[in-house]
Amino acid sequence: MDIIEAIITRRSIRRFSDRPVTDSILQALFEAVRMSPSWANMQCWRFITVKDPAIKEKISELSYVEAFFAPKGYKANPAKKGLAEAPAVIVACADPAQSGELRGQPYYMTDIGIAAQSLMLTAHGLGLGTVFVGVFEEEKLRPLLNIPENIRIVGLFPLGYPRDERKEGPPRKALNEIVYHEKWGQGME
Ligand SMILES: Cc1cc2nc3c(=O)[nH]c(=O)nc-3n(C[C@H](O)[C@H](O)[C@H](O)COP(=O)(O)O)c2cc1C
Repeated sequence: MDIIEAIITRRSIRRFSDRPVTDSILQALFEAVRMSPSWANMQCWRFITVKDPAIKEKISELSYVEAFFAPKGYKANPAKKGLAEAPAVIVACADPAQSGELRGQPYYMTDIGIAAQSLMLTAHGLGLGTVFVGVFEEEKLRPLLNIPENIRIVGLFPLGYPRDERKEGPPRKALNEIVYHEKWGQGME
Protein backbone atom coordinates (compact mmCIF):
# COMPACT_ATOMS: atom_id res chain seq x y z
CA MET A 1 0.00 0.00 0.00
CA ASP A 2 1.28 3.44 -0.95
CA ILE A 3 1.90 5.71 2.06
CA ILE A 4 -0.54 8.41 0.99
CA GLU A 5 -3.23 5.84 0.28
CA ALA A 6 -2.58 4.33 3.73
CA ILE A 7 -2.97 7.71 5.45
CA ILE A 8 -6.16 8.52 3.57
CA THR A 9 -7.85 5.11 3.88
CA ARG A 10 -7.04 4.41 7.56
CA ARG A 11 -10.15 4.50 9.72
CA SER A 12 -10.81 4.03 13.41
CA ILE A 13 -11.92 0.41 13.82
CA ARG A 14 -14.04 -0.38 16.90
CA ARG A 15 -15.42 -3.87 16.18
CA PHE A 16 -13.28 -6.95 15.60
CA SER A 17 -13.56 -10.52 14.31
CA ASP A 18 -12.30 -13.35 16.53
CA ARG A 19 -9.32 -14.04 14.24
CA PRO A 20 -6.30 -13.99 16.57
CA VAL A 21 -3.37 -11.59 16.29
CA THR A 22 -0.21 -13.67 16.31
CA ASP A 23 2.97 -12.77 18.15
CA SER A 24 4.80 -12.51 14.81
CA ILE A 25 2.26 -9.88 13.66
CA LEU A 26 2.82 -7.97 16.91
CA GLN A 27 6.57 -8.23 16.34
CA ALA A 28 6.21 -6.81 12.80
CA LEU A 29 4.02 -4.01 14.13
CA PHE A 30 6.46 -2.94 16.83
CA GLU A 31 9.47 -3.20 14.51
CA ALA A 32 7.84 -0.38 12.52
CA VAL A 33 6.59 1.58 15.54
CA ARG A 34 10.03 1.69 17.14
CA MET A 35 11.41 3.58 14.13
CA SER A 36 9.17 6.59 14.87
CA PRO A 37 10.88 9.92 15.52
CA SER A 38 11.01 11.18 19.11
CA TRP A 39 12.40 14.06 21.19
CA ALA A 40 16.24 13.74 21.03
CA ASN A 41 15.63 10.13 19.96
CA MET A 42 14.92 9.30 23.60
CA GLN A 43 12.07 6.94 22.72
CA CYS A 44 10.10 7.61 25.89
CA TRP A 45 7.41 5.11 24.84
CA ARG A 46 6.71 1.76 26.41
CA PHE A 47 3.97 -0.58 25.18
CA ILE A 48 2.12 -3.33 27.00
CA THR A 49 0.32 -5.92 24.88
CA VAL A 50 -2.64 -7.51 26.64
CA LYS A 51 -4.32 -10.68 25.38
CA ASP A 52 -5.78 -12.00 28.65
CA PRO A 53 -9.60 -11.79 28.19
CA ALA A 54 -10.24 -10.95 31.87
CA ILE A 55 -7.79 -8.04 31.79
CA LYS A 56 -9.16 -6.78 28.44
CA GLU A 57 -12.63 -6.81 30.00
CA LYS A 58 -11.39 -4.70 32.93
CA ILE A 59 -9.64 -2.28 30.55
CA SER A 60 -12.90 -1.98 28.62
CA GLU A 61 -14.77 -1.18 31.84
CA LEU A 62 -12.25 1.56 32.63
CA SER A 63 -12.76 3.32 29.29
CA TYR A 64 -15.49 5.63 30.62
CA VAL A 65 -14.63 8.94 32.28
CA GLU A 66 -17.87 10.43 33.54
CA ALA A 67 -16.74 14.07 33.59
CA PHE A 68 -15.76 13.77 29.94
CA PHE A 69 -18.55 11.65 28.50
CA ALA A 70 -21.68 12.50 30.54
CA PRO A 71 -21.93 16.15 29.35
CA LYS A 72 -21.78 14.86 25.77
CA GLY A 73 -24.64 12.41 26.42
CA TYR A 74 -22.43 9.31 26.01
CA LYS A 75 -23.24 6.33 28.24
CA ALA A 76 -20.08 4.48 27.18
CA ASN A 77 -16.86 5.05 25.32
CA PRO A 78 -17.62 4.21 21.65
CA ALA A 79 -14.59 1.91 21.79
CA LYS A 80 -15.77 0.04 24.94
CA LYS A 81 -16.96 -3.13 23.18
CA GLY A 82 -13.91 -3.19 20.94
CA LEU A 83 -11.52 -3.10 23.89
CA ALA A 84 -13.03 -6.31 25.23
CA GLU A 85 -13.57 -8.10 21.93
CA ALA A 86 -10.27 -7.29 20.15
CA PRO A 87 -7.83 -10.20 20.42
CA ALA A 88 -5.18 -7.80 21.72
CA VAL A 89 -5.09 -4.40 23.40
CA ILE A 90 -1.95 -2.30 23.24
CA VAL A 91 -1.47 0.08 26.15
CA ALA A 92 0.78 2.96 25.12
CA CYS A 93 2.71 4.49 28.02
CA ALA A 94 5.31 7.23 28.28
CA ASP A 95 8.06 8.15 30.69
CA PRO A 96 7.87 11.99 30.69
CA ALA A 97 11.41 12.14 32.15
CA GLN A 98 12.65 10.59 28.92
CA SER A 99 11.28 13.36 26.74
CA GLY A 100 11.41 17.16 26.59
CA GLU A 101 9.37 19.94 28.19
CA LEU A 102 9.65 23.35 26.56
CA ARG A 103 7.40 26.44 26.72
CA GLY A 104 5.05 24.42 28.90
CA GLN A 105 4.61 21.82 26.18
CA PRO A 106 5.22 18.23 27.32
CA TYR A 107 6.74 16.51 24.32
CA TYR A 108 6.07 13.00 25.56
CA MET A 109 2.53 13.53 24.26
CA THR A 110 3.95 14.40 20.85
CA ASP A 111 6.27 11.37 20.92
CA ILE A 112 3.39 9.04 21.71
CA GLY A 113 1.17 10.75 19.16
CA ILE A 114 3.69 10.09 16.43
CA ALA A 115 4.23 6.49 17.56
CA ALA A 116 0.45 6.08 17.67
CA GLN A 117 0.12 7.14 14.05
CA SER A 118 2.90 4.68 13.13
CA LEU A 119 1.02 1.99 15.03
CA MET A 120 -2.31 2.77 13.38
CA LEU A 121 -0.86 2.98 9.87
CA THR A 122 1.23 -0.18 10.26
CA ALA A 123 -1.82 -2.02 11.58
CA HIS A 124 -3.76 -0.80 8.56
CA GLY A 125 -0.96 -1.92 6.24
CA LEU A 126 -1.02 -5.38 7.84
CA GLY A 127 -4.78 -5.67 7.28
CA LEU A 128 -5.55 -5.04 10.95
CA GLY A 129 -7.67 -2.34 12.51
CA THR A 130 -7.35 -0.24 15.65
CA VAL A 131 -8.46 3.01 17.22
CA PHE A 132 -6.70 5.50 19.48
CA VAL A 133 -8.63 5.42 22.78
CA GLY A 134 -7.63 8.45 24.80
CA VAL A 135 -10.45 8.48 27.36
CA PHE A 136 -9.98 6.06 30.26
CA GLU A 137 -9.43 5.96 34.01
CA GLU A 138 -5.66 6.23 34.17
CA GLU A 139 -5.38 5.94 37.96
CA LYS A 140 -7.42 2.72 38.05
CA LEU A 141 -5.70 1.23 35.02
CA ARG A 142 -2.18 1.78 36.40
CA PRO A 143 -2.33 -0.79 39.24
CA LEU A 144 -4.15 -3.31 37.03
CA LEU A 145 -1.07 -3.49 34.79
CA ASN A 146 1.62 -2.85 37.41
CA ILE A 147 2.51 0.46 35.78
CA PRO A 148 4.76 2.64 37.99
CA GLU A 149 3.49 6.02 39.29
CA ASN A 150 5.96 8.06 37.24
CA ILE A 151 4.70 6.59 33.96
CA ARG A 152 1.77 8.15 32.10
CA ILE A 153 -0.71 6.02 30.17
CA VAL A 154 -1.50 7.94 27.00
CA GLY A 155 -3.55 5.65 24.80
CA LEU A 156 -5.24 2.28 24.46
CA PHE A 157 -5.36 0.52 21.10
CA PRO A 158 -7.70 -2.45 20.64
CA LEU A 159 -6.10 -4.41 17.82
CA GLY A 160 -7.55 -7.07 15.55
CA TYR A 161 -9.00 -7.87 12.17
CA PRO A 162 -11.97 -5.63 11.36
CA ARG A 163 -15.37 -7.30 11.75
CA ASP A 164 -17.13 -5.09 9.23
CA GLU A 165 -16.41 -3.46 5.88
CA ARG A 166 -14.52 -0.21 6.35
CA LYS A 167 -17.00 2.70 6.41
CA GLU A 168 -16.33 6.25 5.33
CA GLY A 169 -14.87 8.25 8.22
CA PRO A 170 -16.30 11.43 9.74
CA PRO A 171 -15.85 14.54 7.57
CA ARG A 172 -12.74 16.69 7.73
CA LYS A 173 -12.45 20.46 7.71
CA ALA A 174 -11.88 22.05 4.32
CA LEU A 175 -8.26 22.97 3.52
CA ASN A 176 -9.02 26.70 3.58
CA GLU A 177 -10.09 26.33 7.24
CA ILE A 178 -6.82 24.74 8.34
CA VAL A 179 -4.09 25.93 5.97
CA TYR A 180 -2.98 29.56 5.79
CA HIS A 181 -0.48 31.08 3.43
CA GLU A 182 2.39 33.29 4.55
CA LYS A 183 0.47 34.75 7.56
CA TRP A 184 -2.10 33.49 10.06
CA GLY A 185 -5.60 33.66 8.63
CA GLN A 186 -4.54 34.37 5.05
CA GLY A 187 -6.12 32.21 2.40
CA MET A 188 -4.81 31.58 -1.06
CA GLU A 189 -5.72 34.14 -3.72
C1 LIG B 1 -5.96 11.45 20.91
C2 LIG B 1 -7.19 10.70 20.44
C3 LIG B 1 -8.07 10.18 21.38
C4 LIG B 1 -9.19 9.45 20.95
N1 LIG B 1 -10.00 8.88 21.90
C5 LIG B 1 -11.04 8.09 21.50
C6 LIG B 1 -11.83 7.40 22.47
O1 LIG B 1 -11.62 7.47 23.68
N2 LIG B 1 -12.83 6.60 22.01
C7 LIG B 1 -13.09 6.44 20.67
O2 LIG B 1 -14.00 5.70 20.33
N3 LIG B 1 -12.36 7.10 19.73
C8 LIG B 1 -11.33 7.90 20.11
N4 LIG B 1 -10.54 8.53 19.17
C9 LIG B 1 -10.80 8.32 17.72
C10 LIG B 1 -11.40 9.57 17.04
O3 LIG B 1 -12.74 9.72 17.42
C11 LIG B 1 -11.28 9.38 15.50
O4 LIG B 1 -9.92 9.31 15.14
C12 LIG B 1 -11.91 10.55 14.72
O5 LIG B 1 -13.30 10.60 14.95
C13 LIG B 1 -11.67 10.42 13.21
O6 LIG B 1 -12.17 9.18 12.71
P1 LIG B 1 -11.20 8.18 11.90
O7 LIG B 1 -10.07 7.82 12.83
O8 LIG B 1 -12.03 7.01 11.52
O9 LIG B 1 -10.69 8.93 10.70
C14 LIG B 1 -9.43 9.27 19.56
C15 LIG B 1 -8.52 9.79 18.62
C16 LIG B 1 -7.41 10.47 19.05
C17 LIG B 1 -6.42 10.97 18.02
